[in-house]
Amino acid sequence: MGCSFRSATNPKKQLIIATRNPDKFREIRAVLSDLKLEFLSLIDFPDLPEIEEDGQTIEENAIKKATEIHNHTGLPCLADDTGLEVDSLGGAPGVYSSRYAGETATYADNCRKLLEEMEGIPYPQRTAHFRCVMALVTKNKVITTEGVCEGYILTQMRGQNGFGYDPLFWVEPYGKTFAEMEPELKNRISHRAIALNKMKPHLLNLFSTEDFGLCSGKFK
Ligand code: IMP
Repeated sequence: MGCSFRSATNPKKQLIIATRNPDKFREIRAVLSDLKLEFLSLIDFPDLPEIEEDGQTIEENAIKKATEIHNHTGLPCLADDTGLEVDSLGGAPGVYSSRYAGETATYADNCRKLLEEMEGIPYPQRTAHFRCVMALVTKNKVITTEGVCEGYILTQMRGQNGFGYDPLFWVEPYGKTFAEMEPELKNRISHRAIALNKMKPHLLNLFSTEDFGLCSGKFK
């Protein structure tokens, strides 16, 4: 990878979140807010190439995204890849969650397709979980953590908050879909929050040492 930047420090404590999705970025920032880092997203790097999410698993996709962005920018990079795994559909949509209803599918298209695929499946069998893998890539480390949140897929959408499949994902202990929860509650119990809370000690360690995980990058 070509290099035009070398530094031993990252004084602004910058961490890139490898997403252009404002919904994800908002949630990740909220859960990590106590770390007092400067969070950047791919919106801050308009010249970076699109990264094809062509891995066979969400782990592969998360590591690929974080590695490529780290190599381009030289900054430590955190990438999230998430899949909704529905038991009665053999784990689908899984790694295809974002394009379940097609390459240009909207959140609503994907929810509609899921409802169609699950038509007639009775409640006890409508179990599902979100699985999120976070990958942190720095100059010399690749660290992954995982978070899983169990729930049920409703037969109709409920709630206005959140994004993606949130209006269909009902969490039994709270009697609400993710989309009916206040963001504060979702950010305490979600798959993403669980994975991020496992990642926090690694981030604290990274940003408390002199070596902030920088390598040489093309865009900085
Ligand atoms: P990605 O590949 O990690 O960007 O996510 C795949 C798809 O899963 C997204 O397009 C959303 O539709 C869905 N998704 C990811 N995270 C969540 C979530 O927290 N709630 C609901 N849907 C989500």
